[in-house]
Amino acid sequence: MLNDQLRRVLQQMPKAELHIHIEGSLEPELIFALAERNGVKLAYGSVEELRAAYAFTDLQSFLDIYYAGASVLLKEQDFYDMTMAYLKRAEADNVRHTEIFFDPQTHTARGVDIKVVIDGIYRACQDSPVSATLILCFLRHLSEEDAIATLEAALPYRDKFIGVGLDSSEVGNPPEKFANVFARCRDLGLRLVAHAGEEGPPAYIYTALDTLKVERIDHGVRCLEDAELTARLAKEQMALTVCPLSNIKLCVFDQMEQHNLLQLLDAGILATVNSDDPAYFGGYMNDNFIATFEALPLGLSHAHRLSRNGFVAAFLPEEQKQKFLAEVDAFFAKI
Ligand code: ADE
Ligand code: ZN
Repeated sequence: MLNDQLRRVLQQMPKAELHIHIEGSLEPELIFALAERNGVKLAYGSVEELRAAYAFTDLQSFLDIYYAGASVLLKEQDFYDMTMAYLKRAEADNVRHTEIFFDPQTHTARGVDIKVVIDGIYRACQDSPVSATLILCFLRHLSEEDAIATLEAALPYRDKFIGVGLDSSEVGNPPEKFANVFARCRDLGLRLVAHAGEEGPPAYIYTALDTLKVERIDHGVRCLEDAELTARLAKEQMALTVCPLSNIKLCVFDQMEQHNLLQLLDAGILATVNSDDPAYFGGYMNDNFIATFEALPLGLSHAHRLSRNGFVAAFLPEEQKQKFLAEVDAFFAKI
């Protein structure tokens, strides 16, 4: 059991969130409210019925419901309301900085203009006291041509996102499928991340690093199956954006007691804790920290390290990063 002091520390410590899909923050109540507002018909009759469907067996079983949930998003205000609801939850969890993923292809495929998507999400970020930046994700189950067309459509709004990522169905869609579009993004000065080693093998982490040249690996928990890769990630201080509750809900690990977060830290890896799709996986940042610390032998020193790791791995100007890190160290100095 977690003692009261450690629980309070986990709740109150400053945090950076580096792996949050904004469409995964849509709570069932907001899905129903937006469906009504926009006249969208849902396959579920009530909030309870929808929530009851959140029993996933793997990544794909989740993605099918996640894309259906996103179908209620049509107008700029919808994207604003979704993002503002997330930012309020993040603020309540003492998240100081967040780098938010969004999936434009999920919306443009339904006829929603990419400008509507980006403007709505970006405006909410501007209106929040939480420092927030955006990362545009390509859906890896679609073609590279589709990703390139999405990038071109987003370029008029280049000032509103800092980087690109790669998400959706991992197995069978290796990083190298997107070599050309990532090379173009690199030339454009965008920051690069990719999901790899969530369900996919360590080989996908290698190609994310060596072919796509990503600067962080999203998930990456399967790296421990390869000792050479583990040592490399530690040596290069390559950040992993780990999402503990997600990993349990999508059956990457059977139980939190089996999660490898502590082994990653003990291997010297720059692991961070994140919520992934908080509305679907049972919780936001603090829930992820508390569930992990309840199940694993983690203590105050790990809390300090994880709080720091989030800011170390963030795509922030150096001065801002140091300011946040000083805030973290001041918080822990007072305990
Ligand atoms: N899209 C939203 N959440 C995801 C995850 N955990 N893995 C891959 N794609 C996603
Ligand atoms: Zn994710």
